[in-house]
Amino acid sequence: MTDDLKRGGIAVIDYGSQYTQLIARRIRELGVYSEVYGHDGSADHIDRHEPAGYILSGGPNSVYEPDAPQLPPFILQANRPILGICYGMQLLTAALGGRVAAAREREYGPAPITHETQSPLLDGLQPELRVWMSHGDRIEALPPGFKSLARTANSPHAAIGDIRRKTYGVQFHPEVRHSPQGNAILSNFLFAICRCRAAWTAEAFIDDAVYSVRAQVKHERVLLALSGGVDSAVTGALIHRAIGDQLTCVFVDHGMLRKGEAEQVVRVFRQEQGMNVIAVNAVETFMSELVGVTKPEAKRKTIGKLFIDTFSQEARRLQGIRYLAQGTIYPDVIESAADSNSAKTIKSHHNVGGLPDDLQFDLIEPLRDLFKDEVRKIGLALGLSEAIVWRQPFPGPGLAIRCLGEITWSRLEKLRAADAIYVDALREAGLLRDGTAQSFAVLLPVKSVGVMGDNRSYEEVLVLRSVTTDDFMTADWARLPYELLAEVSARIVNEVAGINRVTYDITSKPPGTIEWE
Ligand code: XMP
Repeated sequence: MTDDLKRGGIAVIDYGSQYTQLIARRIRELGVYSEVYGHDGSADHIDRHEPAGYILSGGPNSVYEPDAPQLPPFILQANRPILGICYGMQLLTAALGGRVAAAREREYGPAPITHETQSPLLDGLQPELRVWMSHGDRIEALPPGFKSLARTANSPHAAIGDIRRKTYGVQFHPEVRHSPQGNAILSNFLFAICRCRAAWTAEAFIDDAVYSVRAQVKHERVLLALSGGVDSAVTGALIHRAIGDQLTCVFVDHGMLRKGEAEQVVRVFRQEQGMNVIAVNAVETFMSELVGVTKPEAKRKTIGKLFIDTFSQEARRLQGIRYLAQGTIYPDVIESAADSNSAKTIKSHHNVGGLPDDLQFDLIEPLRDLFKDEVRKIGLALGLSEAIVWRQPFPGPGLAIRCLGEITWSRLEKLRAADAIYVDALREAGLLRDGTAQSFAVLLPVKSVGVMGDNRSYEEVLVLRSVTTDDFMTADWARLPYELLAEVSARIVNEVAGINRVTYDITSKPPGTIEWE
């Protein structure tokens, strides 16, 4: 992506809040480019795209703690608008000559705030707003030039500002959905205070990426490992738009895919998109290497290594390819506060770490600046179908880690059939895209007794798993309708030979994980 498209956005400075990435996402949803930087980043680094303003995130510290992360002085001297959120507001207060102290009670959760003072930040909002609070400290004395703009029952300074200096602070989180007017506040900051333009659109991104990829690749060839997942699919479609047949995709069918998946990938990308796709049927190799492998990590290692071997073999056969495209996205590379300048490079190397030394490619990662929801928008704008763009995440080792115990072809086929019944029912009920973040079946290496007609059966047990989550770090089990579970259970037991009992997993993460292995 060129720097032009990133210019005039918002630099979000990370002080460790769990919501930092969300701030950048919300700003981008409003059509303005935004990037997250570690609070110890240099001025050259943070200002490299000439931001129109800064947002200082929240964080777990107290400003007067000995090791509390600091406000880089250049931010105050840059003469650009600043919005401090929670810890960011307290940092601003302390740095500009006000006073912060521990509040008697920690304020956490929803709170009403009232605002009476006119200000560009809260302009156009109702006099009373519901917002989401999460802070331990409070402002005792405002810095010179600042006014209080809003108050809660506990805190006279829920929002503060020096209008002339275009510097503001809020004690609450405008970026979370629990602050229903939060977007309006961010929008005021972006458009009324920072004077940003809403130039960050899918079409602008695609035009820019097509230009960059052409400029980088010229007449050379590019290789892409297509998995069928959203990120590699959109990477492929985007690069194909830029360079057409100079792109070759390799799709490895390792036999651990879901029902109809291999055929769908080939059909969509080769026939519908007209892309150059080499489909490698490596099922027998993978199956024979997996005989007797039952431990989860051993399954992952075996499949990971075989995948690299298979892909490398194809790459060698193709010869003369200079670039490797990868579907790395922004959350994969986001800069950590600890290592603000080098995180991106470390991740890039990590991603290709598995390829042997004789295969040295230059990397192309056209999505590395995008969040997942933006990748989906770009995919749709490139003409990919909803079925591809709204796919749920699927692990690299695939069904191998959902087929607990020994992996045999007949157990995989059982699992595939049951999983398809479950996922199709969810899709029909409209619960695949919005109601659940990840839904799948797991086959247990356990047999249970049942009764089928006049006969007793002794067959394997299947688990249905559906979770809701925003970030896959924590998750809750989805509260699916009983009727849907009943119908799916009946269909699976009737239609899939070898399964006579169906259970639903009601474990959240933590303490469970999303996958069973
Ligand atoms: P867990 O089970 O750790 O999963 O709660 C979190 C997310 O990561 C996915 N996952 C994997 N993805 N290779 C992958 O590419 C893996 O080995 C792997 N293990 C888990 C999982 O599907 C969920 O989305």
